[in-house]
Amino acid sequence: DLPTPVMAIESSCDDTACAIVATDGRIVAETTLTQSGHVPFGGVVPEIAARAHLAALPALVRDTLAKANMQPRELGAIAASCGPGLIGGLIVGADMGKGMAIALDKPFIAVNHIEAHALTARLPGVAENGAPFPYLLLLVSGGHCQCIAVEGVGHYRRLGGTIDDAAGEAFDKVAKMLGLGWPGGPAVEALAREGDPRAVALPRPLMGRPGCDFSFSGLKTAVAQKLPTAVRTALPRQEAANIAASFQQAVSDIVIDRLGHALDMMERPTTLVVAGGVAANGVLRASLRDFAARHDLPFAAPPLRLCTDNAVMVAWAAIETMRARREAGLPIPNDIALRP
Ligand code: KG4
Ligand code: ZN
Repeated sequence: DLPTPVMAIESSCDDTACAIVATDGRIVAETTLTQSGHVPFGGVVPEIAARAHLAALPALVRDTLAKANMQPRELGAIAASCGPGLIGGLIVGADMGKGMAIALDKPFIAVNHIEAHALTARLPGVAENGAPFPYLLLLVSGGHCQCIAVEGVGHYRRLGGTIDDAAGEAFDKVAKMLGLGWPGGPAVEALAREGDPRAVALPRPLMGRPGCDFSFSGLKTAVAQKLPTAVRTALPRQEAANIAASFQQAVSDIVIDRLGHALDMMERPTTLVVAGGVAANGVLRASLRDFAARHDLPFAAPPLRLCTDNAVMVAWAAIETMRARREAGLPIPNDIALRP
């Protein structure tokens, strides 16, 4: 008896997305647009992102409704990512969602973007075992790098996270140093296939230290020091490939070491879940799978379009929130203020 379906908006970074999801988890329609205006700048420019969300959202919402063959009044509730993220884009998406909710007289649910990533594994069909609580989440994207004990809806314990760069940011910066363009993760991975991961000695910051914090800036600096500025883009392909492969191996080694500590920091999790754009990385995925098998843990990696920023996860987090509140005898939330 929850309001269904939920339309959600995601606009916290450089993806403008809208989705309609039924309360049983069935994805009715989804649309994601990755902004291209940032490419010449080699990174996401917040003001460009906000303006592009503003320009794209109305048509995106209309398209998503058309794909679902639905009228706005048939929606049960509206949700939007309301933080953390780039504030300009968040305000655009939240305001659009709230405006619709007010006009349609439906509840508006403000969703925490990290919570949305965290709960994606519970979307029916994503994890073989349905990812019962508690599970261990590794979130690795361009903006985030953290280990979270997901203990229930609204119950998250951050076990550790990066003290400087996110993993994706490190991939992007290394790509830039190698003259590979942006976003850099996929390019580094492609080049690394031709390289030897043992060819270049690189540090593994914080590895072996207590806790499960991450640090990538020293690794990034070490890569820079292997590259005299003048030759960066003119580096022989094999040397560049060796650097890419060695860097990728270092990231993977660091992540696995940190996860080992994260496991010790929580009651036995039911599942190891990975999310975020860097989870697309084949070498990292293989090491995670191997790590999970060694610890006798089921492993769940959402399909890529649900790993990177998307609106399906936002709708699903709103649905899980509504359900948890109903079960606790609380009213469906109807948030007016932005939640950080
Ligand atoms: O989750 P996402 O799409 O956006 C946010 O940051 O929220 O993640 C994008 C990040 C970028 O830094 C990109 O370089 C990285 O994920 N990435 C990868 C790969 N594909 C994307 N990093 C390593 N290997 C990949 N195959
Ligand atoms: Zn994200």
